[in-house]
Amino acid sequence: MVRVAIAGVGFMGKTHLGVYQRLKGVEVVSLCDLRKENTEITSLEAAGNIATSAGLVDLSGARKFGDYSQMLAAGGFDVVDICLPTFQHAPCSIQALAAGYHVFCEKPLALSIAEADRVLAAVKKSGRLFSVGQCLRFWPAYAEIKRIIDSGAYGAPRYAELARFSAAPGWAWDGWTLDSKRSGNAALDLHIHDVDMVLYLFGRPKSVRASGVFEPDGGISHIATLYGYPGMTVSSTGGWIASDSFGFTMRALFILERATIELDFSKEPKVALYPAGGKKSPLVLPEGDGYYHELADFVAGVERGATSGVVTGESARESLGLCLLEIDSARRRKELAFRL
Ligand SMILES: NC(=O)c1ccc[n+]([C@@H]2O[C@H](COP(=O)([O-])OP(=O)(O)OC[C@H]3O[C@@H](n4cnc5c(N)ncnc54)[C@H](O)[C@@H]3O)[C@@H](O)[C@H]2O)c1
Repeated sequence: MVRVAIAGVGFMGKTHLGVYQRLKGVEVVSLCDLRKENTEITSLEAAGNIATSAGLVDLSGARKFGDYSQMLAAGGFDVVDICLPTFQHAPCSIQALAAGYHVFCEKPLALSIAEADRVLAAVKKSGRLFSVGQCLRFWPAYAEIKRIIDSGAYGAPRYAELARFSAAPGWAWDGWTLDSKRSGNAALDLHIHDVDMVLYLFGRPKSVRASGVFEPDGGISHIATLYGYPGMTVSSTGGWIASDSFGFTMRALFILERATIELDFSKEPKVALYPAGGKKSPLVLPEGDGYYHELADFVAGVERGATSGVVTGESARESLGLCLLEIDSARRRKELAFRL
């Protein structure tokens, strides 16, 4: 049995809780949140941008804490799952690793490369397992597209565009998401998913050229980037300036030499393959979303004593570094080389 403590029981903490309830061999034994009502929850309904399971939950057996250090000191678990606001990711990961726990930390890994490096040093020193919630690598639609591209069955990719559009995330505690110093704003909070996928699919680009929509506090609420890859054109765009009634969607288009693949979460089927000279066919995907598969993978890693390596601290650091470079490029209105 893998025993889990969840820190931060807001939108993402509730989402993870719902996943652990469905996984075999896992028990959530401790919860920590500043807001008592969040550790006393009886329903998993979470007010985020992606629909989550809304079932009832019985947490009467779990220990409840309002203070993170007190939860770590009390112990009784193997894994700390950090669903706290982004500015707390690095310090809380380091604290949990130093206390001897495995850590699953929500994305982004940190707000700066210096912070990310301190986390990676703590992982190394502790010898504990560590991963980050770059969930797109586990999202069945994106994972299947990667499998198709890597198989070479339809030739090399010639063009790719990845996008996510959202209304501003107004649900968060204390308005932290809209404070760029605490969240990194839409670039580090939302767009980083596509940045991570670009790296996972195509490796490191040579350069980036980005443009952004800036808010009065200097944060970027939407960013669009063109990546420098030899022999193909790759772009991504993402942010949270869409109107409330629009909600959220993610989409992507991949044009390979002998097929086009379209992913659009506002359509049915969500993902379709259009082969050259053939007919459109929906991709057959496993059940479950990226949250389910990333946590199932991490828990299996804890049982085995080694992570799968699909997402690593290093890959999350690379995604952070590329995203920060894009922000820099948008600010300076300049193409910049990617040297991390
Ligand atoms: N992977 C994804 O698709 C995805 C989606 C949404 C959010 N996230 C990430 O998850 C993290 C949390 O986001 P959210 O939307 O759940 O935010 P949220 O504001 O809904 O939840 C954060 C919770 O942490 C609690 N909290 C704040 N400081 C605390 C502290 N020091 N000790 C204990 N509790 C504290 C708050 O009360 C709140 O309940 C963020 O880093 C965000 O980037 C990831």
